[in-house]
Amino acid sequence: MIDSISILTTGDGSQTLFSQQFDEIYHSRNGALTESQHVFVQHGLMNVNKPHIKVFEVGFGTGLNALLCAHYAHQNNVSIDYTGVELYPVDETIASQLTFHEALDDCPIETSVLHKAPWNERVSISPNFTMLKIQHSFVDVQLEEIYDVIFFDAFAPEKQPELWDLSVFQKCYALLAVGGVLTTYCAKGYVKRNMQEAGFRVEKVPGPPGKREMLVAFK
Ligand SMILES: C[S@@+](CC[C@H](N)C(=O)[O-])C[C@H]1O[C@@H](n2cnc3c(N)ncnc32)[C@H](O)[C@@H]1O
Repeated sequence: MIDSISILTTGDGSQTLFSQQFDEIYHSRNGALTESQHVFVQHGLMNVNKPHIKVFEVGFGTGLNALLCAHYAHQNNVSIDYTGVELYPVDETIASQLTFHEALDDCPIETSVLHKAPWNERVSISPNFTMLKIQHSFVDVQLEEIYDVIFFDAFAPEKQPELWDLSVFQKCYALLAVGGVLTTYCAKGYVKRNMQEAGFRVEKVPGPPGKREMLVAFK
């Protein structure tokens, strides 16, 4: 568990967390919800044209992206099986104060439902959304499944270089279905080159507010 965590409000009114351990914010100060919708919904989920979508996330964190998956499945009449890996789960006191669902129109669940769900077993959260939270490091977690989309949402490369190296993107490439997509807020040149060396076709696209560019990688 990370114990030195505080809740902040970002530019669009949505919450985020600040980790003293990593001296790092979980989302953009310009707007956590706006950023996640742009990076992971628009450039992730909306790039997958299937009725049943398998999502993998590096960094479950606040659960915001899992919540956006549940919301997207509900709104678009698709089903989503979400799997997220997280090495440092947010403690219950902080998690119980997260209210991302309040800003989402017709959200099928409250944010706290995701945090109260057990770790390391797949659970049905809403009629068309299941979730498996794995408490482990992405670096050495063993995964059996293949996914349609990867939300790559680790802390920044300066804080966690071990999560942005070639071997990590080779692992991501192996986890993706052909035609699948990996999306991240990061736009760094060496990250793009590592993705390309792992086999991805990589595009730089406009980022969310306050960020000129981000990366989308296709298998
Ligand atoms: C930028 S935050 C984003 C979290 C989440 N996607 C969200 O929207 O709240 C990065 C997350 O990666 C987690 N993390 C750090 N090291 C990790 C590792 N080795 N394996 C898996 N997750 C890790 C952190 O604890 C944190 O929750």
